[in-house]
Amino acid sequence: MKCESLVSINDFSKEEIMELLENARSFEENPNRRVLEGKVVATLFFEPSTRTRLSFETAVNRLGGRIIGFSDAATSSSSKGESLKDTIMMVSNYVDLIIMRHHLEGAARYASEVSSVPIINAGDGANQHPTQTMLDLYSIYKTQGTLENLNITMVGDLKYGRTVHSLLQAMSHFNPTFHFVAPDELKMPQEYKMFCDEHNIPYYEHREFSEEVINQADILYMTRVQRERFTDLMEYERVKDVYILHNSMLAHSKPNLRVLHPLPRVNEIAYDVDDNPKAYYFQQAKNGLFARQAIICKVLGIDVE
Ligand code: CP
Repeated sequence: MKCESLVSINDFSKEEIMELLENARSFEENPNRRVLEGKVVATLFFEPSTRTRLSFETAVNRLGGRIIGFSDAATSSSSKGESLKDTIMMVSNYVDLIIMRHHLEGAARYASEVSSVPIINAGDGANQHPTQTMLDLYSIYKTQGTLENLNITMVGDLKYGRTVHSLLQAMSHFNPTFHFVAPDELKMPQEYKMFCDEHNIPYYEHREFSEEVINQADILYMTRVQRERFTDLMEYERVKDVYILHNSMLAHSKPNLRVLHPLPRVNEIAYDVDDNPKAYYFQQAKNGLFARQAIICKVLGIDVE
């Protein structure tokens, strides 16, 4: 049995991604299996979370494992000045797997280097959110019937939004075309555009969130402006409501279009979109449970069948 950390979505090959999607489908059919009996999992959340932490904890509970951890670092000894290294070395003495969210980019990589048990990155700063990406891929696969040759439009905070960074890299296996809709302050970082160039992936940048852009999309991936990453809150105030999707804007969209959002939303999707059959963000969050069950088994080397 091979146990490995999941730090970046690039840790998975295309074949591994497809295998994980099949396993997620299997868990959706039957999420209650006691394959983690006798195992203890730690969730260490140095940043707030609703979906990621609770879906991981539900996943472990439904698989028969046990959970320890914290959802607020202020209640841990890191508030007394204990280093991340010491925290991880201590916790890895107690558990079989650590699921960690941290505000610093690279924190998950560092933790994986000092831990004696696998680390799952549940989001590190503006860098990566690979488990979100697996549930995004599962959602795209379920709704489109394929991951190949899709037109993916990403809207909003493409600079600080870690979910779009991971998703862009994962989709590189599947011949996508990207449209990036962002104000100048929140454009897709150069390193990810270079990644597209290196992988011959076409991408188009837009400042305007127009119906023309919406109408050619298979997936409209909305994102929240990440207030917690801004050093200048005046700048946040200037851009926070830059794009708002209203139901009327979907009137001429493709029949197969689905609107995704990693959530939480603030203002970027009006509530009148929620009842549109093309709105998929709540089902997307539900898919997180099954995708994370598949990921936990993968990193612990547990055979799903
Ligand atoms: N999508 C996501 O990471 O949500 P939470 O911050 O609530 O975990």
